[in-house]
Amino acid sequence: MGTLIDRFGRRAIDLRVSLTDRCNLRCSYCMPAEGLPWLPKSTLLTDQEIIRLIGVAVERLGVTEVRFTGGEPLLRPGLVAIIAATSAMTPRPQSALTTNGIGLGRMAAALRDAGLDRVNISIDTLRQDRFTELTHRDRLSDVIKGIDEAIAAGLAPVKLNAVLMRGINDDEAVDLLRFALDRGCELRFVEQMPLDAQHGWSREKMITALEIEESLRREFDLAPDPSDRAGAPAETWIVNGGPARVGIVGSVTRPFCGDCDRTRLTADGQIRDCLFATTETDLRSMLRDGASDDELATVWRRAMWGKRAGHGIDEPGFLQPTRAMSAIGG
Ligand code: GTP
Ligand code: 5AD
Ligand code: SF4
Repeated sequence: MGTLIDRFGRRAIDLRVSLTDRCNLRCSYCMPAEGLPWLPKSTLLTDQEIIRLIGVAVERLGVTEVRFTGGEPLLRPGLVAIIAATSAMTPRPQSALTTNGIGLGRMAAALRDAGLDRVNISIDTLRQDRFTELTHRDRLSDVIKGIDEAIAAGLAPVKLNAVLMRGINDDEAVDLLRFALDRGCELRFVEQMPLDAQHGWSREKMITALEIEESLRREFDLAPDPSDRAGAPAETWIVNGGPARVGIVGSVTRPFCGDCDRTRLTADGQIRDCLFATTETDLRSMLRDGASDDELATVWRRAMWGKRAGHGIDEPGFLQPTRAMSAIGG
């Protein structure tokens, strides 16, 4: 069996699969209020094509964790079937879902029964008016219901993601952490990255990992977590002596690119070697032209070998990818 190793010696064992570029929210750091031109239906991989490519990654390329993302992955009608097929693979990979939580209340138990191991849910504010302003939809109570049902279904650990924005929700760090601690969830604060479709990101507006740490330390005792995992984007801290933990994903100011263990598949069948990749490798055409699993695996390996050392946000000439976050899959 081969592995997805690159020329810097990093091995991609974590596959992130975007199941759709569509979403039922419009988070301002991701999508404009009017939405985006969606990927044409004929270019979207079918459920069977997705399952086949996950199989190539798991059975031939050493992938041990599969994460389903979007857009919003709960909008994909075949989600439960795709998870069930993934869980039946040998060796069985760990599986996870990153979702905005809307509709999770209804689906959590079915997802667990299909073999899903865990979920990460985005929640940037606890105030209804702010949620509506930020996402252009009045759905905060659905998100909270989704979180609570995921916990009840035992999709543990349930992790929560919050992106803080200057002057918008950066006064909520403490409240968000209390909300997570009350439920036994691990909250991770995420630095905003230049991946929005509107190209409106600026370093000045971004709340940095250091700022987040400082605002939490005013209310909580934070100690470095010895079990911090290399390859995970979040640095974690033990809160008030434990066992509770909080994470900070400092992608911009504290990049983890040197330990990155990810490879990505888009909903239209392109391999991306990095969140910030500016080129992609087309597996969809190969698949539809009758390529064998071996041929697909060889091309996937070649695609990952060329992965750059880092995202290059701080380098002169940095170019934001043309694909927006919602079509990459976070
Ligand atoms: P686990 O810690 O394994 O649960 O997952 P995760 O934190 O990688 O996944 P999640 O989908 O919850 O993503 C959390 C944040 O990390 C999001 O803002 C992602 O966009 C970001 N992220 C995920 N993968 C990468 C990556 O390869 N590079 C960078 N810079 N950020 C990433
Ligand atoms: N920067 C950082 N995180 C982002 N997400 C979406 N867009 C961005 C961005 N520009 C987060 C979502 C979700 C995960 C998939 O990525 O909030 O938690
Ligand atoms: Fe939808 Fe996620 Fe983008 Fe928000 S960040 S609009 S929930 S895809």
